[in-house]
Parts: sequence; C-alpha cells; structure tokens
Amino acid sequence: MASNAEKVSEEVQKSSIEDDEDIVNPWDVVSSSAKGVDYSKLISRDMHQILDLVEKKTGFYLYTGRGPSSESMHLGHLIPFIFTKWLQDTFDVPLVIQMTDDEKFLWKDLTIEETNKLAHENAKDIIACGFDKDKTFIFSDVEYISESTEFYKMMCKIQKLVTFNQVKGIFGFTDSDSIGKISFPAIQATPSFSSAFPQIFTGKKDVPCLIPCAIDQDPYFRMTRDVAPRLGLLKPALLHSTFFPALQGAHGKMSASDPNSSIFLTDSDEQIKTKINKYAFSGGRPTEEEHRKHGGDCDTDVSYQYLTFFMEDDDKLADIKSRYSSGEMLTGELKQELITVLQNLVGEHRKTRADVTDNLVNEYMKSRKLKFDY
Ligand code: TRP
Repeated sequence: MASNAEKVSEEVQKSSIEDDEDIVNPWDVVSSSAKGVDYSKLISRDMHQILDLVEKKTGFYLYTGRGPSSESMHLGHLIPFIFTKWLQDTFDVPLVIQMTDDEKFLWKDLTIEETNKLAHENAKDIIACGFDKDKTFIFSDVEYISESTEFYKMMCKIQKLVTFNQVKGIFGFTDSDSIGKISFPAIQATPSFSSAFPQIFTGKKDVPCLIPCAIDQDPYFRMTRDVAPRLGLLKPALLHSTFFPALQGAHGKMSASDPNSSIFLTDSDEQIKTKINKYAFSGGRPTEEEHRKHGGDCDTDVSYQYLTFFMEDDDKLADIKSRYSSGEMLTGELKQELITVLQNLVGEHRKTRADVTDNLVNEYMKSRKLKFDY
C-alpha cells in the first residue's frame, strides 16, 4: 500500500504551470510574449473562502516573505509588500513575514552569517513600507527555528509527508542538489499553519492563512496545499501579485546582480532618471512621425507598465494610456511621468528607511504576542 507521502497528489499534478509558452518557478520567470506571463492561466487559490471569512468577521492571518540575498532591494521586491500592507490595513489582521536567510545560504555563494545579517538589513526596507508593529512579526529562519519548538515540529511533520520524488517534480531538484535544498520547501511551507506561531495564536491550529506573493513562489504553496489535508489542516489561500517586469521588457525576471535591469531603492534621483530614459523598453514607434500616426503600444511599454503599479490616480493613468496609444503623447513625455512618480516613491522610502534603527528591527523580530486575542 502506498504511504501517505507516496500518493501522488492531484493538486501538484494538475497545477503545473510550465507550459509550452511560459515558465514560472522560483528560479525562472520566462515568457514567450512581450506582454509577459499569461496570468489567466494562474488563478488565485481559495480567495473566495477568505472573503467569506471577512464577511463572517472570522479572523485569518497574512503570511509573506523575502529571501535576503542582497542588500539592494529593487522596486519589484517591494510590490508584494506594498500589496500586503494594503491587505493588513484593510482587514486588520496579524501578519508574519519569513526572512529565509537559510534558503539564501543554501542557494547562493554567501555565508550563513552574511545572509542572517542581510535578513536584518532587508527587514528595514520592509518595515519602511509602513507595517504596524503591533500586528506584524518578522522572523529570520536561522533565529526563529532554533527557538520555536512548535515551528520545528510542524516542519518535521511536513518533511515526513513529502518525498524526494515529489520535490524533484515540483522544483526540478536533481541527485546532485544538497539535502539542504531538498528539505527547504518544508521550511517555507511551515508558516502557512497557525500552530507554528503559538505566541500569536495561543496554540490554535485552525486560523486560516492568506499568502500574498509573487507568482514565482507558487510551487512552494502548491506543495503546501497538497500536504495540508493530510495533516488535518486548512490549505492556505493564495493571492498572486503579477510579476513586475525588468526595465528591458516583460520577457524576464529582474536581477539584483544586473544594476540596469531595475530601479533600486538606493538609486538617486539622477540614477532613476538615467535608467528610465536609457533602459526602459519602449512601446513607442521608431520615429516621431510614425508615433504620431500609429501611436504607442502600452502592452509592451515598460514605463507604462510601471505606472500601472505605482500611479495612484487611476483617471490620470487612463488618460495617459489613451494619449500614448493614440500617438498624442510621446515616449519622452511618458517616461517623464514615470520618473516623477518613482523619484517621489523612492525618495519617500529613503527617508522612512533612514529612521528605522536596529532596535526597531529587533522589536519587530522579537517572538511575542501581537495585539490580537486568540
Ligand atoms: N522564497 C522567497 C524568496 O526567495 C521568500 C519567501 C519565504 C516567501 N516565504 C514566503 C515569499 C512567502 C512569499 C511568500 O524571496
């Protein structure tokens, strides 16, 4: 008879999202189309259940995370956090943020001391997004797992239910990958279950979890949703933020190692201006004459795409779209709109982050009860 772990799960099988055109996994996001990944193929999982809970005023909690592999976070890294902040403000719920210093140690050429330090540095950028300290627990895996019996117990339970064969299928691991990598998915799955945080949920095992994340994290949570019922626990619900394109276009993922592929939170006003003018892929026409005649293509224009993320005023955005598409607005003017928006956003972030002290980071990262009674 097949053991629990050997039963090939339906969810994992049926929801593979690598098809002939788009590849979406934690290491690659490659789209065949200049418009980027076809999100209609990737659905938000169980979001309706969360909305039911909101209506019934039953609680849930939010879980998201960050792999601290470099000091310089870019705009793309910020998107899931801006979105999460909105969810926290709107629904008034606890939030746990996992800093996977262990993951980045296992995958990158960095020491564990370095990735642990980066976890604290990156936490400053995350805190600068404005999360409420009374409702937010940020934790480093290296630190929290070694102090939390309940977290570690949950991790072991998950590890027991997933075979090497399954993670090979989901993540593409091979025989020569370290056993650290092979067991890591269980660590990212664990915060999806409220019993991993007894200090917040007083041991309750059934507080529903909603995970806002970028699309490349989906494989981890397909695996998590697969094991949940076998643990007698609720599947976490997922909400994907659409992938933020590289300056060069929507085909690929931005890279922290290529300074010209994105805008960094540490970029100066001048750098923002130069990068956008020089590198932001344009959906405009080769000559002004052709542009005036045929108009620009908003679907492939990176400056316009960025504005859809960061321009608060929807009416203004719609107006830009119509003027750019008709050829009335030129690429230079569109880029100027974006430069202004981003200089403001990054400037504000720079200011807020400067006030985040090591002490404040430690307060967010201390294992403690939040302001919710469970
Ligand atoms: N693996 C993620 C990364 O490399 C970090 C992460 C951990 C995460 N848990 C998460 C992201 C939950 C989103 C949701 O960035």
